[in-house]
Parts: sequence; C-alpha cells; structure tokens
Amino acid sequence: MVVIEIVMGDITRENVDAIVTAANESLLGGGGVDGAVHRAAGSRLAQAGGAIGPCKPGDAMATPAFDLDPPVRHIIHAVGPIWEGGGHGEADVLASCYRRSLQVADELCARSVAFPAIATGVYGFPPDQAARIAVATIRSTSTNVQRVRLVAFDGDTRKHLQAAVTATG
Ligand code: APR
Repeated sequence: MVVIEIVMGDITRENVDAIVTAANESLLGGGGVDGAVHRAAGSRLAQAGGAIGPCKPGDAMATPAFDLDPPVRHIIHAVGPIWEGGGHGEADVLASCYRRSLQVADELCARSVAFPAIATGVYGFPPDQAARIAVATIRSTSTNVQRVRLVAFDGDTRKHLQAAVTATG
C-alpha cells in the first residue's frame, strides 16, 4: 500500500528517488513546474528529453536527474491533457499520467516519487477534479513504490489534495 503525503513547496527540493514533471510532448522543457525542473537539472535535461521524445499525452518517460541533488536519480516526464471542458477524455488521460509514471518508477526501482499537480496550471484542468483523479489512480495502481509525495505549489491545490486523500480514506 502506497503511503501518500501531501506537501507544499518546490518539487525541485524534494528528497525522493524520482520527481515527476508536467511536461509537454516535446520533452524539451517549458514553463511552470517543467521550467523549474529544467532549470534545476540543467541543460542536459532538454538534450535527454529531445533524444527520447516526443511523449504522447497520458504517457510518461524517464531521464536521469542530471544536476538535481541526490537522492533524486530520475526525472519522469508526464504529459497531461489540455483541458477542453471535460468531454474529450481528459480525465482518462490524466489518470494515465499517474499510472504510467508509477509503472516507469517501478522499472527504475524507485521507491519514493514526488508528483506536481499535473495539468492544473497552463493546461487548465480543474484542480479539485485533478486531485481526486491523482489520489484515486495512485491508490488503485499496483506498484512497488512505497511513498508518494503530492507537491502542491499553492494553498488551493494543497486543500484539494488533502480533501481527495480524506475522501478516499
Ligand atoms: N514545484 C511544484 N509545483 C509547481 C512548481 C514547482 N516548482 N511550479 C509550478 N508548479 C505547479 C503549478 O502551480 C500547477 O499546480 O505545477 C502544477 C502544474 O502546472 P504547469 O507547470 O503549468 O503544468 P501543466 O498545467 O501540466 O501544463 C504543462 O506547461 O510549462 C508548460 O512545458 C509545459 O507545455 C507544458 C505545460
């Protein structure tokens, strides 16, 4: 059973085996959390991302963590759905981001993973729905990951994540 922790802060400061970034399909970097991760990991991250990309929405791919400090060894690039009102399979694509990230973490033998609130920034996914999808998917995915840290960057996101964890017991 995965232990889920809700924290608030900068995901690039997390002390876990792998951090997940909310990427775009190119894996070349961008703004938001992806920008912060690429700044912290250094220019080699975009080179590595470009070499393995593109990454489809709902999928996840791993690179080394480069300049990020230990214990972080891996960066898992997950591409979320762009919110188009909810009728275009966005919820399933977001769930797939969490499921695939955990599968990739298992392939890497990562036992602790930090996630941002994927798709809730530039991509516009409602944060309350996204939080419920994140927690439900993590709880329902069979994985060897022991500890998941859901990293909120603002109080509103933290509130939604905490509500989602409370609702699922
Ligand atoms: N640590 C943790 N969370 C962060 C950080 C950070 N340093 N910076 C931003 N966030 C949060 C945002 O507040 C939001 O809650 O990450 C969440 C996801 O927002 P975005 O980074 O905008 O990601 P997303 O909505 O998935 O859009 C992805 O934006 O930056 C581009 O290249 C990226 O094209 C892609 C798109």
